[in-house]
Amino acid sequence: MKGGLLLASCLLLVSHVAWGCPELCTCQTSSKMVDCSYKGLLEIPSNLPSQTQVLYLQANQIRVINYTSFTNVPGLRILDLSNNSISRVPPYAFHYLRFLQVLNLTNNFIQNLEGQVFTPLLALKELDLSYNNISNLPESLGNNTRNLTFLGVKNNHLQTVDRMVLETFTNLRVLLAISNPWQCSCPILGLKLWLENFLYKGGVIDELICTSPETRKGKNLLQIPFEFYKSCPPFSTSFPMANIHQHGPEHRNNGRHGYHGDHLDGSHHECEPKPKPRPANLRHAIATVVITGVVCGIVCLMMLAAAIYGCAYAAIMAKYQKELKEVERMASAAEQGSPEEKEPLDSSLA
Ligand SMILES: *[C@@H]1O[C@H](CO)[C@@H](O)[C@H](O)[C@H]1NC(C)=O
Ligand SMILES: *[C@@H]1O[C@H](CO)[C@@H](O)[C@H](O)[C@H]1NC(C)=O
Ligand SMILES: *[C@@H]1O[C@H](CO)[C@@H](O)[C@H](O)[C@H]1NC(C)=O
Ligand SMILES: *[C@@H]1O[C@H](CO)[C@@H](O)[C@H](O)[C@H]1NC(C)=O
Ligand SMILES: *[C@@H]1O[C@H](CO)[C@@H](O)[C@H](O)[C@H]1NC(C)=O
Ligand SMILES: *[C@@H]1O[C@H](CO)[C@@H](O)[C@H](O)[C@H]1NC(C)=O
Repeated sequence: MKGGLLLASCLLLVSHVAWGCPELCTCQTSSKMVDCSYKGLLEIPSNLPSQTQVLYLQANQIRVINYTSFTNVPGLRILDLSNNSISRVPPYAFHYLRFLQVLNLTNNFIQNLEGQVFTPLLALKELDLSYNNISNLPESLGNNTRNLTFLGVKNNHLQTVDRMVLETFTNLRVLLAISNPWQCSCPILGLKLWLENFLYKGGVIDELICTSPETRKGKNLLQIPFEFYKSCPPFSTSFPMANIHQHGPEHRNNGRHGYHGDHLDGSHHECEPKPKPRPANLRHAIATVVITGVVCGIVCLMMLAAAIYGCAYAAIMAKYQKELKEVERMASAAEQGSPEEKEPLDSSLA
């Protein structure tokens, strides 16, 4: 009995080693698939079968991708790391994955992406970075990933994306970018132009809704007329607008940061899209005319109301006077009449 149990466990162990399936995971040799999803893993298993092509690691608590994480699975095609606790993707993270086609990093805590992190992924077709805290896409994101057809950056902290980054995705078909705090002032013009062209070529995008400036809040970037960007400088697309809005006005009054402040402020004014760039005097004049018109209108309305009120009051008073006279006349005429007749009239006039 004891021997049998030992033999059984030995067999199990041998089979496990032969299949090379990591603890807690399920493996399917025919499809070269390893499924370690929803297992509460804290680390990427180190003993992944070398022939693995599909690796599901979603919904664990993985925090770190280290240098050796994927070294023994060079044939990986699909890697799902969604719904984990990854906050940093080191530049060497995917070094060996030359055949990777789908990389899913949604639902993590990624804030910064380092420049070269995706460049080894020559065969990448789908990259999903949605539901992270990414505020900037690195310039070299699409450097080598020319086969990329799907890019997901939904629900991040992007305010704009440099047009140059997107230009590198020559085969992109779908871009999902909803729920980012898009800042629709001048620096986004490059992105807007790229999107128009992308759509024209049959690309698919969801919605890019502006959160600032205040005048464009809630508007779809693609539906803002180009006219509003007429005054934008041609090379403003890479200008870091985020800092300008926060620091511009304060720096102006600060002597020590004079140069810096002026620089930011100048750019700010240049960059703020104006519907129609009119001279300041003319704008003043128009404002004055508008205000004067509004004030005159209000005064006129008040006068009209007063006039109506006066007329109504006069009419009522006239009627009242007439009634009073009538009553007085009746009262004096009926001096000898009964007091019962007189009383209701008096009380009604009181
Ligand atoms: C990398 O992570 C694996 C587990 O995923 C761990 O066994 C290994 O020690 C780590 N290596 C380094 C250099 O941190
Ligand atoms: C994410 O993972 C946690 C466990 O780590 C799980 O409770 C949750 O349902 C998962 N969410 C999704 C959307 O998969
Ligand atoms: C990535 O995973 C999420 C949920 O885990 C899923 O909704 C999304 O469609 C996946 N993206 C891709 C490109 O497969
Ligand atoms: C890109 O896609 C084409 C067509 O699907 C394929 O022939 C080529 O090998 C891919 N490039 C890489 C680097 O995988
Ligand atoms: C990510 O952003 C959300 C808000 O969008 C915030 O609540 C959360 O603390 C951020 N996480 C990290 C790790 O910065
Ligand atoms: C990727 O792009 C960056 C910036 O444009 C450039 O400096 C770098 O040389 C490029 N790398 C490759 C491998 O093309």
